[in-house]
Amino acid sequence: MRILIATPEAVPYVKTGGLGDVTGALLSEFRKHDIDASLILPLYRTIRDSFTLYRTGRSILIRMGGASFRGEIWASDGSSDPQAYFVECEEFFGRPEPYGTPAGDYPDNAPRFSFFSRAVLEACIAMEIRPDVIHCNDWQTGLLPLYLKDHYRDFFRKTATLFTIHNIGYQGIFPPAALWAAGIGRNYFHPEAIEFYGKINFMKAGLLYSDLINTVSATYAKEILRKEFGFGLEGVLRRRKADLHGVMNGIDYDEWDPAHDAAIPARYGADDLKGKAACRKALLKETGLTRPNSPLFGVVSRFSSQKGIDLIADAADELVGLGISLVILGKGEAYYQNLLTEVAGRNEGRVFAKIGFEEELARRIYAGCDFFLMPSSYEPCGLGQLIALKYGTIPVARRTGGLADSIRDYDHLAARGTGFLFDDFTPAALRDAVKRALCLFIVERRRARVMLEGMREDFSWQKPAGEYLELYEKACGKVSG
Ligand code: ADP
Ligand code: GLC
Repeated sequence: MRILIATPEAVPYVKTGGLGDVTGALLSEFRKHDIDASLILPLYRTIRDSFTLYRTGRSILIRMGGASFRGEIWASDGSSDPQAYFVECEEFFGRPEPYGTPAGDYPDNAPRFSFFSRAVLEACIAMEIRPDVIHCNDWQTGLLPLYLKDHYRDFFRKTATLFTIHNIGYQGIFPPAALWAAGIGRNYFHPEAIEFYGKINFMKAGLLYSDLINTVSATYAKEILRKEFGFGLEGVLRRRKADLHGVMNGIDYDEWDPAHDAAIPARYGADDLKGKAACRKALLKETGLTRPNSPLFGVVSRFSSQKGIDLIADAADELVGLGISLVILGKGEAYYQNLLTEVAGRNEGRVFAKIGFEEELARRIYAGCDFFLMPSSYEPCGLGQLIALKYGTIPVARRTGGLADSIRDYDHLAARGTGFLFDDFTPAALRDAVKRALCLFIVERRRARVMLEGMREDFSWQKPAGEYLELYEKACGKVSG
């Protein structure tokens, strides 16, 4: 089976969040098992500047919205089977960030990602590749299944599409003119197609025209059928319920393992935790936190309302009063960046906040903290808690989506579990969960047991990669009749 994974981000090339980890790691897992799979992504400036790439010599020309756009196809290596292809189009992708800056999204994201979705199909044609399945990811590739069925059906008669929802909170909703700019006919502008309350919705296209749909945890697959989680697309999903699946993300343990992470000050594992104490000490020094014996909580997050940043900000002073210290790393909406900078400013020596996207500092936080906070309002899967578990840092999180599926709430009587879960999206519920965690903190033997239980969980890609292969087979079955 030939698989092409179309994605706006993938490690090691570009990452703004978990989507990048997931597509990159899924590809590595397939390749480990000699499965014929490649990635295709936009050639952002940062990729061009940091990687040695090869021209395939193939170019494409796409006419959309009265203009023509040229793209060059590049590859990660010079072989006939590169692990990644890239679509170069300076006008759309020659920018410092993939989607926008803290001030907001780029205003031309609609034509940028319409172009990318079409370019994936045009690139296949130019390179004479007929994938059995094109695996689309999030709204940036939402139009691809529509283009495939509407514009390119002949070439891709036997190509199936799987659309993965990584986050239904981001749908790619644009004014109706985006339809014309995308080169899509007016006949798609009605509620049964991609019209959405007078606008057009790229993710809706992915949900309607792909052969199969999945999301990234079993609980989120159920949640998005409900109004509170579906962001207006719950009706569309309910209609396609039979084609909707949940595949829990994994993490790549070649990348995320304190036993051989070069970015942390000391290595450690479940058999020998000494290195973790050294990581903790170094993190306290680096962040200027002054209470060495107080429980150390970490946050590594995109700053958006989804992540419960308000809860952290609202509860912070009180948590500091309970004796905890807090290390925060994040980047995102300017409002949250300012809010947390203020919290740190008035709690010097207790709360450290760094605004930025810093892979190595993130690793030192996962390794150096005692607990990891993820009070998300919703969480399709979440990788932060999976990484934290592997690094022996006990998660404290809201019981939603993949957090509910991956953390076993600590039971004080049985002394079993891997973290602490709470239900209400309120600062008070967060505080109560933190208090439960503090009770564990003071009993060293019990705490070690919870850490070890978490470190020994298996969230590798082996099982989910197998589930994706099953979904690809199923999707192929739909197009072959
Ligand atoms: P999401 O994709 O919603 O942002 P996930 O928990 O699935 O959340 O994945 C987040 C990924 O991005 C993790 O690998 C996390 O370590 C990383 N990450 C998030 N924010 C930062 C940051 N400011 N600096 C470095 N890494 C970050
Ligand atoms: C999204 C979700 C996150 C998930 C990630 C990868 O960004 O917010 O929960 O882990 O995608 O699937």
